[in-house]
Amino acid sequence: MLNFEPNPKNRLYTNLNSYLMFLGYILGGRLRQDSKNIEVFEQALRDRVATDYAVCVYQCRLGIYLAVKALIKPGQEVILSSYTMTDIINMVIFAGGRPVFADVDLETCNIAVAELERLITPNTGAVLITHLHGLAVEAHRIKEICDRFKIPLIEDAAQSFGVKEQGKAVGTIGDVGVFSFEMHKNMPTFLGGAVVTNRADVVENIRAELSDFSYPALPGIANKVKKGAIHDIASLPILFQLLTYPIIRFSYLNDFEFINRRVRRNPQESKPAAELPDVYKSQYTPFQARLGLSQMKNVDRDIQARIEYAHIYYEGLKDLDQLILPPLRADGSHTYLWFPILYDRRDELLRFMFDRGRDIAAGHFTNTADLPQFQEFYRDCPNSRKVERALIYLPTYPSYSRREVEKNIEVIKQYFATKVTSTHVQAQDFMPEVSVRL
Ligand SMILES: Cc1ncc(COP(=O)(O)O)c(C=O)c1O
Repeated sequence: MLNFEPNPKNRLYTNLNSYLMFLGYILGGRLRQDSKNIEVFEQALRDRVATDYAVCVYQCRLGIYLAVKALIKPGQEVILSSYTMTDIINMVIFAGGRPVFADVDLETCNIAVAELERLITPNTGAVLITHLHGLAVEAHRIKEICDRFKIPLIEDAAQSFGVKEQGKAVGTIGDVGVFSFEMHKNMPTFLGGAVVTNRADVVENIRAELSDFSYPALPGIANKVKKGAIHDIASLPILFQLLTYPIIRFSYLNDFEFINRRVRRNPQESKPAAELPDVYKSQYTPFQARLGLSQMKNVDRDIQARIEYAHIYYEGLKDLDQLILPPLRADGSHTYLWFPILYDRRDELLRFMFDRGRDIAAGHFTNTADLPQFQEFYRDCPNSRKVERALIYLPTYPSYSRREVEKNIEVIKQYFATKVTSTHVQAQDFMPEVSVRL
């Protein structure tokens, strides 16, 4: 079988059908019609995650805003993971909350439970946990803590649709959960998300807020579809090998920022504002709901493939003490949207890998606790700072080839072998903080 090497670091979970469906809706002038599709998709989501209510939203972050707003009183604290997307912190602030940054565990990059418990005060209005990289947080344990203090729990399950903790779908363990169907996620509808909950009062509140919003203008959705198409075409195996990758590789190795900036994923971020900017005040469209419905059937198959790749990475890398690996689980609680590893000299390793023809990404979120715009809420979160500096995403998407996974392992091992045999090994190559596996 033909194998185009290297495979790209990421490919979207969109398919030809996604684009044909969009064209069909545009040509038929039906983008905002067939609102029944939304009811059908919401029903399918409810059945899939076993919850009483599901409400589709324009973006996951809007769902987080709506959930926080529905659950807290203005001025209350929201304890959340410091390693996340900046806009999530903005949403909490727009909703009237005061973010309280909790540090993360290095192995999972997820909120550290003991720290979360210590941060609870009489002014805590909610806890917001993030199931990052398809690795479930210990949500049942956190729910018990929240129940003890009578604090609602919100789950940001943007990266974890289809993940279960103790047999229950993440997103449904706390009071409210939010999924993302944005184009890089595992059930993409180009843009969008859903709020799930068993609480009628929360749904009522959210539906009332959404009723003031209208469907987005066509260019908004079309622009996302166009970005998806460009990504899908540029990462087509043959084109990627012949054209896209040589450009990416050259730019990376020569610090050609003009291109690097375009290849890096820069999560969208709102500007500082006193309240939710108008750009978020839109509704999920019937076209997207139809697409989501058609994507849902692939979710479990794709998860299985990612878990298998995670196994291979784990077995291949577990003896390299300088790396921090995620825990290996096969119970459905860890589904590895990527295989996230930490290494202190990340840029050196990435350079080595690009030099040997690999295409690998660095983590793209930040330690939001350190950001100047959130200085008022500053807390020292050293693990989160380290994750920002050290996170590498090893690809696990289903159409990535097994041979590529093995090559990545091989090249990482070569890197560490050259370091051990080098007569110029520097003491800082083996910084004690990363040699400790938690
Ligand atoms: C952890 C996390 N939370 C929230 C979001 C926001 O999702 P959306 O772009 O649908 O608003 C993302 C998107 O990347 C995410 O990764």
